[in-house]
Amino acid sequence: MLEMVINADIKKGKINKNIYGHFSEHLGRCIYEGIWVGEDSEIPNVKGYRTDVVEALKKLKVPVLRWPGGCFADEYHWMDGIGPKEKRPCMINTHWGGVVENNHFGTGEFLEFCEIIGTEPYICGNLGSGTVQEMQQWVEYITFDGKSPMADLRRANGKEEPWKLKYFGIGNENWGCGGNMRPEYYADLYKRFSTYVRNFGDNTIYKIACGPNGDNYSWTEVLMKEAGHLLHGISLHYYTLPSGSWTGQKGSATEFDEGEWFKTLKQTLYMEELVKRHSTIMDKYDPEKKVGLIVDEWGAWYDVEPGTNPGFLYQQNTLRDALIAGINLNIFNNHCDRVQMSNIAQMVNVLQAIILTEGDRMLLTPTYHIYDMFKVHQDAQLLSVDFENIEYLYNGEKIHGISVSSSMDIEEKIHVSICNLNPMEDTEIDIDIRGKTVNSISGNVLTAGAINDMNTFDDSNKVKIDVLVNAQLKNNHAVCKIPSKSVVVLEIE
Ligand code: AHR
Repeated sequence: MLEMVINADIKKGKINKNIYGHFSEHLGRCIYEGIWVGEDSEIPNVKGYRTDVVEALKKLKVPVLRWPGGCFADEYHWMDGIGPKEKRPCMINTHWGGVVENNHFGTGEFLEFCEIIGTEPYICGNLGSGTVQEMQQWVEYITFDGKSPMADLRRANGKEEPWKLKYFGIGNENWGCGGNMRPEYYADLYKRFSTYVRNFGDNTIYKIACGPNGDNYSWTEVLMKEAGHLLHGISLHYYTLPSGSWTGQKGSATEFDEGEWFKTLKQTLYMEELVKRHSTIMDKYDPEKKVGLIVDEWGAWYDVEPGTNPGFLYQQNTLRDALIAGINLNIFNNHCDRVQMSNIAQMVNVLQAIILTEGDRMLLTPTYHIYDMFKVHQDAQLLSVDFENIEYLYNGEKIHGISVSSSMDIEEKIHVSICNLNPMEDTEIDIDIRGKTVNSISGNVLTAGAINDMNTFDDSNKVKIDVLVNAQLKNNHAVCKIPSKSVVVLEIE
């Protein structure tokens, strides 16, 4: 029996709802087909955005959505994506498959889509190959209310009132696809570009600098030292690769054994170390934790599905991905003093997607269901949880067997999200709820028969949320069995 204490009266800060954010890039079939099909499509749509996807996203309460990239962002020239669609120039999407991008989904479409699904936009600007003026004008086009060349251009394109835009990224992966820069060079460019990203009227921009790749701690150090006082957030990118290496095969999304399951979850748990160590560096320059750590790309990255375009990064999604999502989200919740946003890569049809589409068909992946189950943590107060973790042993190696976070929402309901990483053993848990008298308990569970079970277009409900029937309250203790290879969310009132 695993014993745990949740201190309902020890609140450790607000879990920013933006931790439950998403990312949509002009990559493969994420934007085109996944989100945008155009008004003339036979696929049912609202103003060109596919209806089934819109409805699924509304249910998730997506708080924030990052766009247009990714690597695509540092090659994107926003003026190509405004005005009448037939006049918009085409470009080559050099990063992702070399396909032609017709720019039919541009600034206006992205911001309209955000309005439709009820989410905050987060736009990533082009520092790598764009100009300071271009970045400055983009923000002016979107947010300026008065008379100016860019505001007039927006009006000429049919949008009288400005949009609200809070989150703006100053480049993406500028240590790699965004220009292969040194941190010193990037920090200087950050200062130059961000100076011209203006606040117009009451629109205040939260500026997000390109942060480190995984464990590149010196990037964080240099950036915080040189520009920490001029930014609001620093991004962190870290992907889970079963092989742990970018060279050679990464591993299949669907064909794996327990050894690969173990290795993949071990790579996932490494996120905790990254968050802690980057936070420690940030603490040195920002002890009041004003600067947010913005984990704006994370998730599982496998070999593409056989037979698909390697540049499209299309992969299936199994129960293992549900665990990857649950573990990461628990880590972000538990570090909500520093982690202010996260954006899983990516929303539809790319990498660890929450939704997959095929023509007019759509399915919700196990990862989608985790976002559905965990949305109760959005803007809730993180609670203190004490326990001694059990081990999950495989082939002489060990990792944590359980991942947990807990929060209290505005109605004082307690939620506990628990992942059981062990695919062979159930775990009985006894949670002593201190600091509050509780009267009822219920729970949901996501698991499956096999570690690589998934939803397909022919069997789209194989991995789904079920009621956890065994949860009970005994003398203010929540007692339940967490099935092997599962994710559970308890609600205790
Ligand atoms: O999410 C796919 C790609 O991964 C993004 O374009 C890039 O930023 C990262 O390397």
